Amino acid sequence: MVCKAKIVGLGSYLPERILSNQDLEKMVDTSDEWITSRTGMKERRIADSNESTSDMGYQAALKALEASKVDPSDLDLILFATLTPDYVFPSTACLIQARLGATHAAALDVQAACTGFLYALSMAKAYVEAGVYKNILVVAAEKLSSIVDYADRNTCVLFGDGASACVVKDAKEGFTIENVTLGADGGQSDLLILPAGGSRQPPTQETVSQGLHYLQMEGKEVFKHAVRRMESAVKTCLEKTGLEQQGISWLVPHQANIRIIESLAKRFEVPKERVFLTIHKYGNTSASSVGIAFDELLMEKDVRKGEHIVLFAFGAGLTWGAAAITCEVGK
Ligand code: ACO
Repeated sequence: MVCKAKIVGLGSYLPERILSNQDLEKMVDTSDEWITSRTGMKERRIADSNESTSDMGYQAALKALEASKVDPSDLDLILFATLTPDYVFPSTACLIQARLGATHAAALDVQAACTGFLYALSMAKAYVEAGVYKNILVVAAEKLSSIVDYADRNTCVLFGDGASACVVKDAKEGFTIENVTLGADGGQSDLLILPAGGSRQPPTQETVSQGLHYLQMEGKEVFKHAVRRMESAVKTCLEKTGLEQQGISWLVPHQANIRIIESLAKRFEVPKERVFLTIHKYGNTSASSVGIAFDELLMEKDVRKGEHIVLFAFGAGLTWGAAAITCEVGK
């Protein structure tokens, strides 16, 4: 029988510094009222200037390895999801491979923006279930503060920094990854983009003076795609898992906008208390968002054996995805 890959341990990390809506009121023409009512965000965390994406990912990875009782030397693969890597190359995965001393692990970065954690999880599941690798570390970390223009009120209120990680393997106990459904639409790539710094527009004094090294987003358009694509990803994921909508025990959404989350929770008839939120305190942490929320769900709520957890995310690319996970720990 084909084994089903399980998440056997999770970890997350948030920088200490808090940037509140009141702080943002002093930086751009915005208000706590606007940000709260349009997004659900109150605060977000901001990394130190000398703290990079790999530094945060490393902290989350240590916790996930400890929780799963897997030694770094037993890792076969490290998948690092991020759109804010330390460098264009080498990969951020290689940087933490060295730092963890995971000398037997292959390592690569996964770039699927806010859907990065789910893309990496899907790859980890496939590798484990195909018998290619036994122990896989998935890390998702972002230093979005490094690509956000703090003079642009359209974007600077939305994003925060943070990291999450999990270990995926074939095990008796853990959180079974039943299905991960993914999608993409590159035809809409200009809706959410960091224009300069790559081979299309290498960085020059001009690109910097025009602010093209900052993230740009058509918020309204992204919003519409996000609702439609995540709804369909969750439906497909449930179908493939053989799970009814009523069977969802917990929803763990990408924390990009409370209005998107509430509208999807309503469509799936999941009661408020079963929808796990971190958006008010961390904002949108892109790839790391669903991993952080999943980790905190397990720490804060009484998730029971047999319960089904549905994660979903949406981001630049455009990319989207949903994962159905069954708790197989506890009584
Ligand atoms: N404070 C005050 N006013 C603001 C602010 C602000 N921070 N930001 C925008 N406004 C103004 C706009 O200028 C506009 O003013 P105007 O009508 O005079 O032109 C007005 O508010 C309305 O702006 P909209 O963009 O229409 O506001 P909307 O209700 O769509 O909310 C938001 C904007 C929050 C960005 C929303 O569209 C959204 O959440 N979009 C989806 C984001 C998302 O899902 N991202 C996921 C992927 S992220 C990734 O991959 C990295």
